[in-house]
Amino acid sequence: MVTVIDGKQAAASVISAVTEAAQGLERAGGAKPGLAVVIVGNDPASHAYVSSKSRMAKQCGFNSIQHTLPEETTQEALQSLVDTLNADPAIHGILVQLPLPRHLDQEPVIQSILPEKDVDGLNIANAGKIATGDLTTGMISCTPAGSMLLVKRIHGEDLSGLNAVVIGRSNLFGKPMGLLLLAANATVTMAHSKTKDLAAVCRNADILVAAVGRPEMVKADWVKPGATVIDVGINRVPAPEKGEGKTRLVGDVAFDEASEVATAITPVPGGVGPMTIAMLMANTVIAAYRAAG
Ligand code: GUN
Repeated sequence: MVTVIDGKQAAASVISAVTEAAQGLERAGGAKPGLAVVIVGNDPASHAYVSSKSRMAKQCGFNSIQHTLPEETTQEALQSLVDTLNADPAIHGILVQLPLPRHLDQEPVIQSILPEKDVDGLNIANAGKIATGDLTTGMISCTPAGSMLLVKRIHGEDLSGLNAVVIGRSNLFGKPMGLLLLAANATVTMAHSKTKDLAAVCRNADILVAAVGRPEMVKADWVKPGATVIDVGINRVPAPEKGEGKTRLVGDVAFDEASEVATAITPVPGGVGPMTIAMLMANTVIAAYRAAG
């Protein structure tokens, strides 16, 4: 029988630890953790993600600030907001929701976030720490950090002798995920759109992590019997069976058929998604503790 990994439950225990830590900091005379989330434009999916981040920050007892900027925001205006948030001692974490509208250049904005407030772990200083094996003094991207927690629930801390395959090589997920698996002693393959015979590469994985953004691309015959499958995709697809114009969320893995082959698998929704938000809260409370000295 396959184990369906319960990301909601794992996230709830992170959230409860974060909430207690935030209360502890305040009791000790420290500040309320402050999280500023910046969103530019009108992408409905991004707005939905940002609302749940802001809501969860409030639920954790944080000072939760959301800046919603219009689609036509200039590079200068966005930069000026990030500069202001960098200088604000009440803000411990800054998240600029990606992707930005096309006319904006994301890299200078992301890199200008102070490394100690970079709760996304995208700053070169933070990414470099993970790449050089320092997993304790920087900030680790939320989705890879949350995915690793789920992997470790199944396999424990040490992944020695296990083959891990990550499909996707983004800075936000694939690269840091590969590095975290490597740091836990897995033998890691980072696969991507140019990989030859992707299905065969995936069939070698004891731990298969999919982050491609293509609905149900990973089929049962891509999965090694007994593997752990972590599905990072969140794709909205038409669901005519629910009525005209209705949609549903699916991952990058064909869940039903992959469940017949895997030993453990994350569902969508309710797998990696809630962990991403929980780890964002964890990074923010960590940033607030560090700022308090
Ligand atoms: N867009 C989708 N996921 C994320 C995330 O984790 N952080 C940011 N900043 N943007 C995203």
